[in-house]
Amino acid sequence: MSNGPILGVVGARPNFMKMAPVVKALRKKGISVHLVHTGQHYDRAMSEVFFEELGMPKPSEFLGIGSDTHGRQTGKIMIAFEEVCERYEPSRVLVCGDVNSTVAAALVAVKKGIPVDHVEAGLRSFDREMPEEINRIMTDHLSDLLFVTEKAGVVNLAKEGIEQGVHLVGNCMVDTLMEHRVRAFSLGPWKTYGVEEKSFGLITLHRPSNVDVEENLKGLIGALSRLSVEIPLLFPLHPRTRSRLREFKIDLPERMKILPPLSYLEFLGLMAAARLVLTDSGGIQEETTALGTPCMTLRENTERPITVEMGTNHLVGVEPGTIVDLGLRLLGKEAPVRSVPPLWDGRAAERIADLVATRV
Ligand code: UD1
Repeated sequence: MSNGPILGVVGARPNFMKMAPVVKALRKKGISVHLVHTGQHYDRAMSEVFFEELGMPKPSEFLGIGSDTHGRQTGKIMIAFEEVCERYEPSRVLVCGDVNSTVAAALVAVKKGIPVDHVEAGLRSFDREMPEEINRIMTDHLSDLLFVTEKAGVVNLAKEGIEQGVHLVGNCMVDTLMEHRVRAFSLGPWKTYGVEEKSFGLITLHRPSNVDVEENLKGLIGALSRLSVEIPLLFPLHPRTRSRLREFKIDLPERMKILPPLSYLEFLGLMAAARLVLTDSGGIQEETTALGTPCMTLRENTERPITVEMGTNHLVGVEPGTIVDLGLRLLGKEAPVRSVPPLWDGRAAERIADLVATRV
């Protein structure tokens, strides 16, 4: 086994807040970690800003891959990352989440005989049309240590025959949230947009199934427009969604305010102060659970069932009438009392570092 450093791989926006506390916890134990950024996300607002705010060390390697088709993007990451592995001879490769960068790096590492550790293992939506679901399944089957956020993940892995190396450790994204929430809230980012605390809704939409099909996107915007009559809505746009709205010539109502992609702190502050969040993201379902903010998930399934069990998240689907009905109902009643899943206590990364330390 190599006694080289650990390589931590990140590529897309949701990776950064998961990797940051793990790198910190490993370094605190004196373990050498180098960050490799694939460049899957490359706009300053989608990447650099997060490094600055999370106090993450600059990546030792930036692969500059950028956007492409799934096959080409994954393939390019593999070619570039293999060369990095040859230079560093890492003892282990650490990946997180379910993006194309995650599976690409895991596959390269395991084929070179380097053990892979997966942060956020075991989540399943059981929907193989989601690119992330394929990435999750593949990565888990390649991994040596599998760090799970919620108990359903352990059950899912066992059903696929994976029991060795599985550890329920909690949620690293919540570690980051707990570290930054007070500061994020105190910045009062909602004031910039002329809305008041607990009197606005916050939207994010970027999933291909919701935004790439004209009819689906029109239906969702129609439902959200109806809700904007009741409450002003802030809508930071992912680049994919921005280009689809333009392409399909969809107009937005006045009370739906379009914003550019936001920094981590600004978005966290808005989530904490929102009356209601409407999203098709995976991570935001977890962040709203940790904050106790009511959330409507505009998808047919969730790989994060604990967020629904805790009572803040509602899996509403994508049918416009159902979204409007539930939205009106939630706006008309008090938010449920905040209830946080076991081990979402801000110490998941420490547990991960303790486990990784036994293997280096
Ligand atoms: C990726 C992840 C998804 C995650 C999301 C968070 C995969 C399969 N999907 O989806 O799980 O929730 O990131 O944002 O890995 N673009 C830019 N600038 C950027 C990045 C992207 O303009 O910095 C545009 C490009 O037009 C690109 C499109 O966004 O084609 C999609 O980017 P891509 O990384 O392929 O997937 P995401 O939809 O961001």
